[in-house]
Amino acid sequence: MNKFHAVFLLICTTTADLSNDCNDPNWHSLETLENARVECGPSFENRCYCLRTCYENRHQYVVNCTNSGFSDVTPLSHLPNETQVLIFTGNYLEELPWNVFGTLDSLPYLRMIDMSNNRIREIRGKAYHHVQRVERLILDFNELSLDPARSHPRVFSNFVSLLELHLTDAFEDGLPRDLAATLHDIFVNRYQIDKF
Ligand SMILES: *[C@@H]1O[C@H](CO)[C@@H](O)[C@H](O)[C@H]1NC(C)=O
Ligand SMILES: *[C@@H]1O[C@H](CO)[C@@H](O)[C@H](O)[C@H]1NC(C)=O
Repeated sequence: MNKFHAVFLLICTTTADLSNDCNDPNWHSLETLENARVECGPSFENRCYCLRTCYENRHQYVVNCTNSGFSDVTPLSHLPNETQVLIFTGNYLEELPWNVFGTLDSLPYLRMIDMSNNRIREIRGKAYHHVQRVERLILDFNELSLDPARSHPRVFSNFVSLLELHLTDAFEDGLPRDLAATLHDIFVNRYQIDKF
């Protein structure tokens, strides 16, 4: 594992939505974990939980597929359209194909994607579409290829609302000679991350 640790904080803002505060005494979840599994829909094969829950001090609709044994992203094109937080970690993905979230623009509330620890090596150029509202993307502990011989299309160019990109130990072993240029190819669209 290389020791490349980075968190790009593009803009630091916090939005406190008080009406949605977890301390609101009037809020009660009626959901059981069993319901939450079924709620995800058949594509998730009862391996995930889909529920409105307290996440980062706010009630949010969370889809949680932690260590759920998926080896492809098929279920992700069937995410409930109210999804705000996607936790898809500890699976075995290797490659993210085009249109991970399907071809319909049906996730208007998705704000946070955690795809840590999925052994992802390649992210195809058009993998992330329909992520216009996503503010935080976490790709920690993957095996992203930094081979300069491969083309690294601007896979994050659709993340027009992105504020944070987490890349702790996200890359394969061995840093390329021109790390800055490679990172630029992979990530940059309208942001100026080339300082790194
Ligand atoms: C997601 O699920 C895992 C295991 O099922 C659990 O440990 C974790 O706390 C869950 N995360 C959230 C935010 O609910
Ligand atoms: C969300 O999906 C449900 C059924 O799957 C549909 O009835 C509803 O109109 C959708 N809402 C939005 C905002 O797309």
